[in-house]
Amino acid sequence: MEKDVEVKIYDTPAKLSKKAARQIAAISQQEGTHPLHIALSGGSTPALLYEILAGKFRDKTHWERLHFWWGDERCVEPDSMESNFRMASERMLSQVPVNPLQIHRINGEAPPEEEALRYTREMAALVPHREGFPVFDLVLLGMGDDGHVASIFPGELHLMKSNAPCAVASHPITGQKRITLTGNSINHARRIFVLVTGTAKSPRISEIMNNKKAAQKLPAYYIDPIDGQLTWYLDVDAAALI
Ligand code: 6PG
Repeated sequence: MEKDVEVKIYDTPAKLSKKAARQIAAISQQEGTHPLHIALSGGSTPALLYEILAGKFRDKTHWERLHFWWGDERCVEPDSMESNFRMASERMLSQVPVNPLQIHRINGEAPPEEEALRYTREMAALVPHREGFPVFDLVLLGMGDDGHVASIFPGELHLMKSNAPCAVASHPITGQKRITLTGNSINHARRIFVLVTGTAKSPRISEIMNNKKAAQKLPAYYIDPIDGQLTWYLDVDAAALI
Protein backbone atom coordinates (compact mmCIF):
# COMPACT_ATOMS: atom_id res chain seq x y z
CA MET A 1 0.00 0.00 0.00
CA GLU A 2 1.34 3.45 -0.93
CA LYS A 3 1.91 5.79 2.01
CA ASP A 4 -0.50 8.69 1.93
CA VAL A 5 -1.89 11.34 4.25
CA GLU A 6 -5.42 12.72 4.26
CA VAL A 7 -6.80 15.58 6.36
CA LYS A 8 -10.58 15.45 6.69
CA ILE A 9 -12.42 18.33 8.38
CA TYR A 10 -16.00 18.11 9.67
CA ASP A 11 -18.44 20.62 11.12
CA THR A 12 -19.04 18.62 14.28
CA PRO A 13 -17.56 15.75 16.32
CA ALA A 14 -20.74 13.78 15.54
CA LYS A 15 -20.23 14.06 11.76
CA LEU A 16 -16.52 13.24 12.18
CA SER A 17 -17.32 10.17 14.30
CA LYS A 18 -19.93 8.92 11.82
CA LYS A 19 -17.47 9.15 8.91
CA ALA A 20 -14.76 7.36 10.88
CA ALA A 21 -17.25 4.66 11.92
CA ARG A 22 -18.24 4.19 8.27
CA GLN A 23 -14.59 3.70 7.35
CA ILE A 24 -14.05 1.15 10.13
CA ALA A 25 -17.12 -0.80 9.03
CA ALA A 26 -15.72 -0.75 5.48
CA ILE A 27 -12.35 -2.06 6.75
CA SER A 28 -14.19 -4.97 8.43
CA GLN A 29 -15.88 -5.81 5.11
CA GLN A 30 -12.63 -6.03 3.14
CA GLU A 31 -11.81 -9.11 1.05
CA GLY A 32 -10.79 -12.27 2.86
CA THR A 33 -11.56 -14.04 6.11
CA HIS A 34 -8.30 -13.42 8.02
CA PRO A 35 -8.54 -11.62 11.39
CA LEU A 36 -8.27 -7.83 11.38
CA HIS A 37 -6.41 -6.22 14.26
CA ILE A 38 -7.50 -2.81 15.53
CA ALA A 39 -5.74 -0.84 18.29
CA LEU A 40 -8.30 1.32 20.05
CA SER A 41 -7.66 4.76 21.49
CA GLY A 42 -8.57 5.89 24.96
CA GLY A 43 -9.54 9.37 26.09
CA SER A 44 -12.94 10.94 25.44
CA THR A 45 -12.85 11.74 21.72
CA PRO A 46 -13.44 8.22 20.38
CA ALA A 47 -16.35 7.48 22.78
CA LEU A 48 -18.91 8.78 20.27
CA LEU A 49 -17.26 6.81 17.46
CA TYR A 50 -17.53 3.61 19.51
CA GLU A 51 -21.22 4.29 20.26
CA ILE A 52 -21.97 4.90 16.57
CA LEU A 53 -20.11 1.74 15.52
CA ALA A 54 -22.13 -0.29 18.04
CA GLY A 55 -25.33 1.49 17.03
CA LYS A 56 -25.87 2.74 13.49
CA PHE A 57 -23.04 0.59 12.04
CA ARG A 58 -23.62 -2.50 14.16
CA ASP A 59 -25.10 -4.50 11.29
CA LYS A 60 -22.66 -3.11 8.73
CA THR A 61 -19.58 -4.30 10.63
CA HIS A 62 -18.15 -7.83 10.35
CA TRP A 63 -17.46 -8.12 14.06
CA GLU A 64 -16.36 -11.73 13.80
CA ARG A 65 -13.18 -10.66 11.96
CA LEU A 66 -12.14 -7.93 14.36
CA HIS A 67 -9.61 -8.28 17.17
CA PHE A 68 -9.47 -5.38 19.58
CA TRP A 69 -6.25 -4.16 21.16
CA TRP A 70 -5.39 -0.89 22.85
CA GLY A 71 -2.87 1.74 21.79
CA ASP A 72 -2.37 2.54 25.44
CA GLU A 73 -3.83 1.94 28.87
CA ARG A 74 -3.65 3.62 32.21
CA CYS A 75 -2.17 1.43 34.96
CA VAL A 76 -5.47 1.14 36.80
CA GLU A 77 -8.02 -1.62 37.46
CA PRO A 78 -10.18 -2.54 34.44
CA ASP A 79 -13.29 -1.27 36.24
CA SER A 80 -11.69 2.09 37.03
CA MET A 81 -13.38 5.15 35.51
CA GLU A 82 -9.93 5.96 34.07
CA SER A 83 -9.62 2.64 32.23
CA ASN A 84 -9.52 2.87 28.42
CA PHE A 85 -10.67 -0.76 28.35
CA ARG A 86 -13.69 0.11 30.49
CA MET A 87 -14.67 3.02 28.21
CA ALA A 88 -14.49 0.96 25.02
CA SER A 89 -16.31 -1.95 26.67
CA GLU A 90 -19.16 0.22 27.94
CA ARG A 91 -19.56 2.21 24.71
CA MET A 92 -19.05 -0.61 22.22
CA LEU A 93 -17.64 -4.03 23.05
CA SER A 94 -20.39 -5.01 25.49
CA GLN A 95 -23.02 -4.10 22.86
CA VAL A 96 -21.72 -6.06 19.85
CA PRO A 97 -21.25 -9.75 18.90
CA VAL A 98 -17.60 -10.28 19.81
CA ASN A 99 -16.28 -13.02 22.07
CA PRO A 100 -13.62 -12.64 24.77
CA LEU A 101 -10.98 -14.19 22.51
CA GLN A 102 -11.30 -11.16 20.25
CA ILE A 103 -10.55 -8.72 23.04
CA HIS A 104 -6.92 -8.20 24.06
CA ARG A 105 -6.92 -5.69 26.87
CA ILE A 106 -3.80 -4.33 28.49
CA ASN A 107 -3.91 -5.46 32.12
CA GLY A 108 -3.66 -2.08 33.80
CA GLU A 109 -3.79 -3.72 37.22
CA ALA A 110 -0.58 -5.70 36.62
CA PRO A 111 2.97 -4.52 37.43
CA PRO A 112 3.72 -2.16 34.51
CA GLU A 113 7.06 -3.56 33.32
CA GLU A 114 5.72 -7.15 33.47
CA GLU A 115 2.55 -6.12 31.59
CA ALA A 116 4.50 -4.36 28.84
CA LEU A 117 6.36 -7.62 28.24
CA ARG A 118 3.22 -9.74 28.41
CA TYR A 119 1.35 -7.50 25.96
CA THR A 120 4.35 -7.53 23.63
CA ARG A 121 4.32 -11.31 23.69
CA GLU A 122 0.55 -11.49 23.04
CA MET A 123 0.90 -9.16 20.06
CA ALA A 124 3.84 -11.23 18.77
CA ALA A 125 1.72 -14.36 18.95
CA LEU A 126 -1.36 -12.99 17.20
CA VAL A 127 -0.65 -9.84 15.17
CA PRO A 128 1.36 -10.07 11.92
CA HIS A 129 4.75 -8.43 12.43
CA ARG A 130 7.28 -6.68 10.22
CA GLU A 131 10.76 -5.66 11.31
CA GLY A 132 9.86 -6.77 14.83
CA PHE A 133 6.79 -4.53 15.11
CA PRO A 134 3.07 -5.39 14.96
CA VAL A 135 1.30 -4.45 11.72
CA PHE A 136 -2.15 -3.42 12.91
CA ASP A 137 -4.86 -3.10 10.28
CA LEU A 138 -5.90 0.11 12.02
CA VAL A 139 -4.51 2.17 14.88
CA LEU A 140 -6.98 4.70 16.29
CA LEU A 141 -5.42 7.68 18.06
CA GLY A 142 -6.53 10.83 19.78
CA MET A 143 -4.20 13.73 20.53
CA GLY A 144 -3.74 15.60 23.79
CA ASP A 145 -3.60 19.41 24.07
CA ASP A 146 0.19 18.94 24.47
CA GLY A 147 0.44 16.94 21.26
CA HIS A 148 0.77 13.53 22.90
CA VAL A 149 -0.56 10.42 21.18
CA ALA A 150 -1.37 7.14 22.91
CA SER A 151 0.68 7.61 26.10
CA ILE A 152 3.73 9.07 24.39
CA PHE A 153 4.12 12.50 25.96
CA PRO A 154 6.46 15.33 24.86
CA GLY A 155 8.80 14.60 27.76
CA GLU A 156 9.22 10.99 26.59
CA LEU A 157 9.64 11.62 22.89
CA HIS A 158 12.24 8.81 22.72
CA LEU A 159 9.31 6.36 22.85
CA MET A 160 8.44 7.39 19.28
CA LYS A 161 11.71 5.74 18.15
CA SER A 162 11.97 2.93 20.70
CA ASN A 163 12.95 -0.50 19.41
CA ALA A 164 10.45 -2.07 21.79
CA PRO A 165 6.91 -2.56 20.45
CA CYS A 166 5.41 -1.46 23.75
CA ALA A 167 6.71 0.50 26.74
CA VAL A 168 5.90 1.86 30.18
CA ALA A 169 5.26 5.62 30.15
CA SER A 170 4.42 8.20 32.80
CA HIS A 171 1.87 10.98 32.70
CA PRO A 172 3.89 14.23 32.97
CA ILE A 173 1.61 15.84 35.55
CA THR A 174 0.17 13.03 37.63
CA GLY A 175 3.06 10.60 37.21
CA GLN A 176 0.46 7.90 36.53
CA LYS A 177 2.09 4.90 34.88
CA ARG A 178 0.79 3.94 31.46
CA ILE A 179 1.44 1.10 29.01
CA THR A 180 1.75 2.37 25.45
CA LEU A 181 2.46 1.20 21.94
CA THR A 182 5.66 2.89 20.82
CA GLY A 183 5.97 5.10 17.73
CA ASN A 184 7.38 2.29 15.61
CA SER A 185 4.45 0.01 16.44
CA ILE A 186 2.01 2.77 15.53
CA ASN A 187 3.85 3.67 12.32
CA HIS A 188 3.93 0.08 11.08
CA ALA A 189 0.11 0.06 10.88
CA ARG A 190 -1.68 -0.26 7.55
CA ARG A 191 -3.97 2.59 8.55
CA ILE A 192 -3.81 5.23 11.26
CA PHE A 193 -6.80 7.43 12.12
CA VAL A 194 -6.08 10.42 14.38
CA LEU A 195 -9.29 11.95 15.74
CA VAL A 196 -8.90 15.51 17.06
CA THR A 197 -11.71 17.87 18.09
CA GLY A 198 -12.01 21.16 19.95
CA THR A 199 -10.28 24.55 19.95
CA ALA A 200 -7.87 23.55 22.74
CA LYS A 201 -6.03 21.39 20.23
CA SER A 202 -5.98 23.88 17.35
CA PRO A 203 -2.54 25.37 18.19
CA ARG A 204 -0.92 21.93 18.09
CA ILE A 205 -2.73 21.00 14.86
CA SER A 206 -1.57 24.28 13.31
CA GLU A 207 2.04 23.52 14.35
CA ILE A 208 1.88 19.97 12.99
CA MET A 209 0.38 21.06 9.67
CA ASN A 210 2.23 24.40 9.17
CA ASN A 211 5.20 24.85 11.53
CA LYS A 212 7.67 21.97 11.42
CA LYS A 213 10.08 23.72 13.81
CA ALA A 214 7.49 24.10 16.56
CA ALA A 215 6.04 20.65 15.85
CA GLN A 216 9.33 18.82 16.45
CA LYS A 217 8.62 18.67 20.19
CA LEU A 218 5.23 17.02 19.62
CA PRO A 219 4.87 13.21 19.53
CA ALA A 220 1.87 13.58 17.15
CA TYR A 221 4.22 15.17 14.59
CA TYR A 222 6.05 11.84 14.26
CA ILE A 223 2.95 9.84 13.34
CA ASP A 224 4.18 8.89 9.89
CA PRO A 225 3.19 5.44 8.60
CA ILE A 226 6.04 3.59 6.93
CA ASP A 227 3.86 2.47 4.03
CA GLY A 228 0.37 2.78 5.42
CA GLN A 229 -2.34 5.41 5.23
CA LEU A 230 -2.68 8.27 7.74
CA THR A 231 -6.01 10.07 8.06
CA TRP A 232 -6.50 13.08 10.32
CA TYR A 233 -10.15 13.42 11.32
CA LEU A 234 -10.54 17.01 12.55
CA ASP A 235 -13.53 19.10 13.46
CA VAL A 236 -13.61 22.77 12.39
CA ASP A 237 -12.55 23.89 15.88
CA ALA A 238 -9.42 21.76 15.93
CA ALA A 239 -8.67 22.86 12.35
CA ALA A 240 -9.37 26.55 13.01
CA LEU A 241 -5.72 27.65 12.77
CA ILE A 242 -4.60 25.55 9.81
C1 6PG B 1 -5.48 8.22 26.78
C2 6PG B 1 -5.43 8.35 25.29
C3 6PG B 1 -4.80 9.66 24.94
C4 6PG B 1 -5.91 10.50 24.37
C5 6PG B 1 -5.55 11.95 24.36
C6 6PG B 1 -6.74 12.80 23.93
O1 6PG B 1 -5.18 7.16 27.32
O2 6PG B 1 -5.89 9.23 27.38
O3 6PG B 1 -4.93 7.32 24.66
O4 6PG B 1 -3.74 9.60 24.05
O5 6PG B 1 -6.19 10.06 23.04
O6 6PG B 1 -5.17 12.31 25.69
O7 6PG B 1 -7.74 12.65 24.91
P1 6PG B 1 -9.21 13.26 24.67
O8 6PG B 1 -9.80 12.48 23.54
O9 6PG B 1 -9.93 13.00 25.98
O10 6PG B 1 -9.03 14.71 24.35
